[in-house]
Amino acid sequence: MHITHLSAECYPAAKAGGLGDVVGALPKYLNKLGESCEVIMPKYKTNWLESQDYEIIWESDARLGHEYFGFKILKVENDPLGFPLYVVDVPGRLDRPGVYIDPWSGHGYWDEFERFLSFQIGALEWILNREEKPDIVHCHDHHTGLIPFMLSNCYRYESLSEIPSIITVHNAEYHGQHDLDRHHMLPDFDHSKLGLLDWDGRLNSLGSALKCAWKISTVSQSYMDELSTNSNGLEFLFAQEKSKSVGIVNGMDAEVWDPVTDPLLDINFTKRGVKAGKRKNKDKICSQFGLNPDLPTISFIGRLVREKGADLLPDLISTFMHNEKEVNFVLLGTGDPGLHDIFTRMENDHVGYFDATLEYNEKLAHEIYAGTDFILMPSRVEPCGLNQMYAMRYGTVPIVRAVGGLKDTIIDLDEEGGYGIKFKEFNLHEAENAIHRAVDLYSDSKRHAEVVRKIVNLDFSWDKSAKEYFNMYNQLKLQSA
Ligand code: GLC
Repeated sequence: MHITHLSAECYPAAKAGGLGDVVGALPKYLNKLGESCEVIMPKYKTNWLESQDYEIIWESDARLGHEYFGFKILKVENDPLGFPLYVVDVPGRLDRPGVYIDPWSGHGYWDEFERFLSFQIGALEWILNREEKPDIVHCHDHHTGLIPFMLSNCYRYESLSEIPSIITVHNAEYHGQHDLDRHHMLPDFDHSKLGLLDWDGRLNSLGSALKCAWKISTVSQSYMDELSTNSNGLEFLFAQEKSKSVGIVNGMDAEVWDPVTDPLLDINFTKRGVKAGKRKNKDKICSQFGLNPDLPTISFIGRLVREKGADLLPDLISTFMHNEKEVNFVLLGTGDPGLHDIFTRMENDHVGYFDATLEYNEKLAHEIYAGTDFILMPSRVEPCGLNQMYAMRYGTVPIVRAVGGLKDTIIDLDEEGGYGIKFKEFNLHEAENAIHRAVDLYSDSKRHAEVVRKIVNLDFSWDKSAKEYFNMYNQLKLQSA
């Protein structure tokens, strides 16, 4: 089947978080199953996209409100990602270095609506004019959330209205909300359908996708269950659309995340050599950050935002620093500027035990997965979470809050077949307790080694989940026939 994925991110072309990893990997695994997947994304000015050669596929202009914009559809030459990657080039709108955030100001781009709407319209215009139509249009998150509405309601795309659309929700915290009167920027549609764009008096891109897509999927079953009670205002809608919703847990790209071949690691290691390999990587990280390599070392990698529980970290880390100094903490990520200040101060207060690298750094992330003993994910909300899977492949034991995909992918050590440390409630006391359990595990070197051996052998690759998408596509195809 010919499946067109539309997304704001696709690794390594452009990535801000897990969405990029999923869209960069899933099509490859689906193609192994015999599908014919491609990705359409915006042409930003990222290093990767700037360094490619392109074939010009189509060139046109389209209406955005009262104005016209010119755009090109380009295809990256030689399929370096293992599937065809098309980019929509809208000069003046998309050709900027950041995906969502302007790296110079640290703020989101002011014209987010026009940016992603011109991307979505450009992609649909091309599909409209393309001879070979996709069998399914698969959208990801709110940046592509107006496509299901446009496909089924805009006069211009009437000939595409029988193509089934899917919205996969990777993160329901962000909805792409704008003033409702901005609906005039979309191609013409019957105004009695305005309600399909409206949620709580606002134009809500994700809400509209939930209403209009033929199928909704989220990136884990537990997250799907949680969304009806916790989705930043869309609870009722998620509950209402339950009958067309499905939770499919993400996998990981086992080719990118392989400590044997990982080009971002200076010291590669095999499953059998995991003990020595991790020791060398740990020595490297600890000497780089001036930490004692004999202490258990716990890392946090990710966006420093409330959702990920990053605001719990200062108190949590301080508790361990002020009592016996029996652990190191290593942190990598960017986010809330207030937290940046706090972590910078803490670094000075706890030299030798705590290091914070406040940037986005893919290489260092791989080195930290390889060189620390535990990864901490105290998330308030976690749609799936990929870091716990990456960490385990590199022999790093997860300490997670039991929420969303973390709940579904980690079994606690105290349960049968367990291999991770899980805590239930989002509070300091439970998180502290979880870290004490990690320190205890570390001091029992035999048990620790057993757990490490177990996690490096777990299979979180896409193979299984890709089959579930495959089945969903087949079902939809039958529905549309
Ligand atoms: C978002 C979610 C994360 C998920 C990823 C890919 O980044 O926060 O939990 O793993 O999308 O679906």
